[in-house]
Amino acid sequence: MPVIAQPAVAVTDAVESRRPVAASVSTPVPAHVAIIMDGNGRWAASRGLPRVAGHREGAQAVRRTVESAIRNGVGWLTIYAFSSENWRRPHSEIVDLTGLLRRYLKSEIRELDKNGVRLRFIGDRQRFDPDIQADLAKAERETQGNKRLNLTIALSYGARAEIAAAARAAAAAVKAGQLDPAALVEDVFEGFLHTAGTPDPDLIIRTSGEKRLSNFLLWQAAYAELIFLDVLWPDFNDSHFTAALAEFGRRERRFGARSA
Ligand code: FPP
Repeated sequence: MPVIAQPAVAVTDAVESRRPVAASVSTPVPAHVAIIMDGNGRWAASRGLPRVAGHREGAQAVRRTVESAIRNGVGWLTIYAFSSENWRRPHSEIVDLTGLLRRYLKSEIRELDKNGVRLRFIGDRQRFDPDIQADLAKAERETQGNKRLNLTIALSYGARAEIAAAARAAAAAVKAGQLDPAALVEDVFEGFLHTAGTPDPDLIIRTSGEKRLSNFLLWQAAYAELIFLDVLWPDFNDSHFTAALAEFGRRERRFGARSA
């Protein structure tokens, strides 16, 4: 286990300043960890199982990871559960994934709520069936008072679509005379993103050995530390999570400045 410290900057400060979290003297714990959960299909294929078995095990890994994040004092966790490109998968796999999401929303909310987890969803939720959209809204509503862990699940999410939508919204505000184009600086533009009010990720982990961001949090990842692990998502556990936090603690974050 790494030395556990409070996030280097109080989470509220990070949100207010909209700046990434700076390193502290003790081993810093990232305030915000984001994860690209990859490798469910390969996990299943290596066992001769259908892909859905990998996704089911992947949902178990999500549960473990939420517990690890809470135990390690991480305040924000964002997971990439379904990309806007995933709609191109065969219909049967989409049915499996949305079915899993439906069950997750029904079965986990009480436990998440009990553990002080606040849920948010980013992405184009209107592409999901109305019953799922209603469950997403209910989960957000019922957990909105929780403060221990902010869990954001990216669903039907694509960073380019998010940035384009933010640009459209900002342009509409300018056209309506509500925003001076000269005032559209970075902090203001961030307010139009799905992640408005969320600190940028300090650490992004991708499992399965692939080394790319795949249209995930492209704006927000500007100063994130990236860790790529050779473990398939369904096998991801607390020891991988704590090892990634320890590796994060060894990185020097300069945000473009020079080291001390
Ligand atoms: C990537 O693996 C994973 C996904 C596209 C789905 C992620 C879903 C889960 C982890 C489970 C559901 C989560 C919730 C919150 C209910 P892949 O299928 O692309 O794997 P491969 O690259 O090995 O084929």
